[in-house]
Amino acid sequence: MGKSSVYNASKQQYPPTFKLFFFFLPISLAITSFLLIFIYIYTTSKLSTDPQSSPFLEPATNYSLFDLLIPGSTDYETIQFSIDNTAEDLFFDLPRTSSYAKQNQWSLGDLFGFTGNTLNNTEIYHDIDVFLEDYKEMNKSFKIFVYPHKPDDPFANVLLPEDYNPEGPYTSELYFKKALFNSHFITKDPNEAHLFYMPFSILHLRHDPRIGPEKLQDFVKDYIFNISHKYPFWNRTGGADHFYTACHSISEIAMDKTVEAKENSIQLVCTSTYFVTGYFPHKDVSLPQIWVKKHDPGTLVSSKRNRLAFFAGRVNSPVRAALFKHWVNDTEIFAHFGGLETNDGKEQLRSKFCLHVKGFEINTARVTDALHYGCVPVILANHHDLPFTDILNWKSFSVVVHYMDVPVLRKILQGISFEELSWLQSNVMKVRKHFEWNVPAVDYDAFYMTMYELWLRKSSVRV
Ligand SMILES: *[C@@H]1O[C@H](CO)[C@@H](O)[C@H](O)[C@H]1NC(C)=O
Ligand SMILES: *[C@@H]1O[C@H](CO)[C@@H](O)[C@H](O)[C@H]1NC(C)=O
Ligand SMILES: *[C@@H]1O[C@H](CO)[C@@H](O)[C@H](O)[C@H]1NC(C)=O
Ligand SMILES: *[C@@H]1O[C@H](CO)[C@@H](O)[C@H](O)[C@H]1NC(C)=O
Ligand SMILES: *[C@@H]1O[C@H](CO)[C@@H](O)[C@H](O)[C@H]1NC(C)=O
Ligand SMILES: *[C@@H]1O[C@H](CO)[C@@H](O)[C@H](O)[C@H]1NC(C)=O
Repeated sequence: MGKSSVYNASKQQYPPTFKLFFFFLPISLAITSFLLIFIYIYTTSKLSTDPQSSPFLEPATNYSLFDLLIPGSTDYETIQFSIDNTAEDLFFDLPRTSSYAKQNQWSLGDLFGFTGNTLNNTEIYHDIDVFLEDYKEMNKSFKIFVYPHKPDDPFANVLLPEDYNPEGPYTSELYFKKALFNSHFITKDPNEAHLFYMPFSILHLRHDPRIGPEKLQDFVKDYIFNISHKYPFWNRTGGADHFYTACHSISEIAMDKTVEAKENSIQLVCTSTYFVTGYFPHKDVSLPQIWVKKHDPGTLVSSKRNRLAFFAGRVNSPVRAALFKHWVNDTEIFAHFGGLETNDGKEQLRSKFCLHVKGFEINTARVTDALHYGCVPVILANHHDLPFTDILNWKSFSVVVHYMDVPVLRKILQGISFEELSWLQSNVMKVRKHFEWNVPAVDYDAFYMTMYELWLRKSSVRV
């Protein structure tokens, strides 16, 4: 009944003016879009001729980046500057004008996207509907082929998962492997596989007396030589549908003798920064680093968080040196030299914010630790490609602060209103599960999130 009336309506006769209207509508729309495109090109090209007005639109050449970091400095031309991890630490040794600190004070409106920005930073997912639907599809159809190795292989300790639950700061790669071997994603039929897993553990290779840091690169090279001669899969794509996991920072150089693997394969690593030569954002995946926790703290919500911020760690980087210089005796920001006697979470449970300050490496388990204890993470690690960032909106459960803002850190954190802090804290409780490795793995935990990241990347590979 309803259907037939719709049908009738489409057969109606329309008056001539109405037809005329439909004749001019597309033309006027075309003219309007043309004008808008013209205006867009005009305004953006104007911006790019003026790097100061919008430095983020500039390509990251050393000049513009440096300009951004120390405007007003007169002696930057005498300083060698190249894009790498250490380069941006350089500016801490440079004289800074006090006017810069003033200019650079944070606007919390900008931070949370409340000023004309359309992002809703109270939402933890970029798009929850797309994620859930895609995830279901991934969970149903994703298939991985693991290169098989026998228990009597001389390197079985490196290639096979272990029976016990590993401990230590770089165990994410081991938890991933263990979960994958026990999952329904594994297939014995390489023809139905989307991706191929090379199960060597960079962490175990690093600590194996037969290999160590010296022979690591040769081992990986031999391994890939072996699989590319024994099986046809590597050669089909030059390794582009292959992946491996590594949490230890030595993974940065592990592929140096296997450039094809570095450039083509998907690397799941903890050392994910935009400025190391071995990591390719979008192709590679940022793996969350953890300190294994035996128990779940029961008192997260009721915990009395009287202290503003907490950090403990060695001073092994310029940004940490700056942190201690400014805040070592502060009553609000608790910055502790060296490790704590016991890392039982007491300090994290007392604090509103827990700092991740880049040390020697970009990555740390401090972020997942903060989440574990319900403490809002503050990320002071420029250019860290944060885990699951294409699924989760980090601004909804963390505060990302630029190195330059260490001197105004307290002001930034105190400027966060009670309401903002409440939703940051409640979002921390919601995202925690995504950063946990479970045995056995459970839906939406770090293992499944990592599988989803792989799923997103597999679709670009065509054999
Ligand atoms: C960096 O800047 C220096 C001096 O301006 C220049 O000689 C060098 O070629 C630049 N390097 C890159 C990678 O752009
Ligand atoms: C942002 O999302 C929250 C939760 O869904 C909602 O309550 C709030 O109204 C939204 N804010 C804006 C500005 O859209
Ligand atoms: C994912 O797959 C597993 C195994 O088939 C199943 O137990 C689980 O419920 C699935 N999860 C979702 C969200 O579909
Ligand atoms: C490669 O294969 C050779 C010959 O089977 C074997 O001796 C060697 O251990 C293998 N190397 C790796 C890294 O798998
Ligand atoms: C893969 O390519 C290498 C180098 O071109 C070649 O030596 C090897 O035989 C190929 N592997 C297979 C299984 O054909
Ligand atoms: C911090 O306090 C100690 C002990 O009171 C003092 O010696 C030190 O100079 C202070 N440091 C700073 C940076 O104020």
